[in-house]
Amino acid sequence: MINPIVWTDEAVVLLDQRALPEVETYVELHELDEVIAAIRDLVVRGAPAIGVTAAMGLAQAVRKMPLDVSGFTTAFDAACVSMEAARPTAVNLAWAVRRLRRLVERHLDEGIPAVCARMEKEARFMHAEDIEMNRTMGRHGSVLVPAEACVLTHCNAGALATAGYGTALGVVRAAVEEGKKVSVMADETRPFLQGARLTAWEMQRDGIPCTVITDNMAGHLMSRGDVDLVVVGSDRIAANGDVANKIGTYTVAVLAREHGIPFYVAAPTSTVDLAAVSGADIPIEERSGEEVVVIDGKRIAPVGVPALYPAFDITPAKLVDAIVTEEGVARAPYTESLRACCDASAARTEQREAAS
Ligand code: MRU
Repeated sequence: MINPIVWTDEAVVLLDQRALPEVETYVELHELDEVIAAIRDLVVRGAPAIGVTAAMGLAQAVRKMPLDVSGFTTAFDAACVSMEAARPTAVNLAWAVRRLRRLVERHLDEGIPAVCARMEKEARFMHAEDIEMNRTMGRHGSVLVPAEACVLTHCNAGALATAGYGTALGVVRAAVEEGKKVSVMADETRPFLQGARLTAWEMQRDGIPCTVITDNMAGHLMSRGDVDLVVVGSDRIAANGDVANKIGTYTVAVLAREHGIPFYVAAPTSTVDLAAVSGADIPIEERSGEEVVVIDGKRIAPVGVPALYPAFDITPAKLVDAIVTEEGVARAPYTESLRACCDASAARTEQREAAS
């Protein structure tokens, strides 16, 4: 299995996704600032992967924090604020930070060393839990995949974007494991090329047929019947089912609806933000236009011409046929179905916390 995030006793170790597919290299991160920079600079990316990495980064950082309650809480609070600011759209980051904050609040009276030990255990648990949830989600989602199908996906919502197995690609993997004949069409996903570099790499490693297309080919290929369904991941889902995902997802959803092709989203309940009433409440990360006009060190537009890079877009709920979570498949009206999934997940977490 692809392991994009590893935590040894000495360091948070990440598979450097900027170097793939040419080079498979890991970076070792010892300091909080290094982990934050790795998230910001896309060494690790994908909402669930960012959440797990953040948890490990914080659990590693608290080992060096003051041992008195006041000093510890001040340092921990500052670390949480810096961590959350690394990438604004992927809500799994804030979710992971909130989960560790809650743990600290509940157990502070046990003393700082005990809290640090609990945080380490929790971060490791979140890693294992993410893989487990993806497998469950995959099984729920594979019901939506016909016995023979071409699945178009955008960006990379695979093992690399999670602790392992993947969300959208987890659905593909589960369908293949069930014996279905599935192939993947991967939008290249300009400008970071998550589809061409990462999705294609993962699929090739697993022996799942995968064809890369440029982002502007999807409509044509749909019109000639080459795509059976679309499955994408998400960075944040609003309470009404509006979905934030990699820039270009909205275009794919509009095209899918035009051609009568089902459009599905696979994401864990940790990606659902019930505090966001609709997509309008989701902050969209704006990255530097330089990332658009410079490819592999080569500038492709005249110097001085501005470029825009909103990194995500919002697909309105009305274009989403179903949202696959680890708690089951949610369908419209999403305000009710997503809340039910989140309630089921929260009940499970509460049970576990009460037992520990
Ligand atoms: O900028 P990225 O590469 O972090 O964006 C990632 C995506 O948009 C993914 O589709 C999303 O996080 C889901 S990953 C399981």
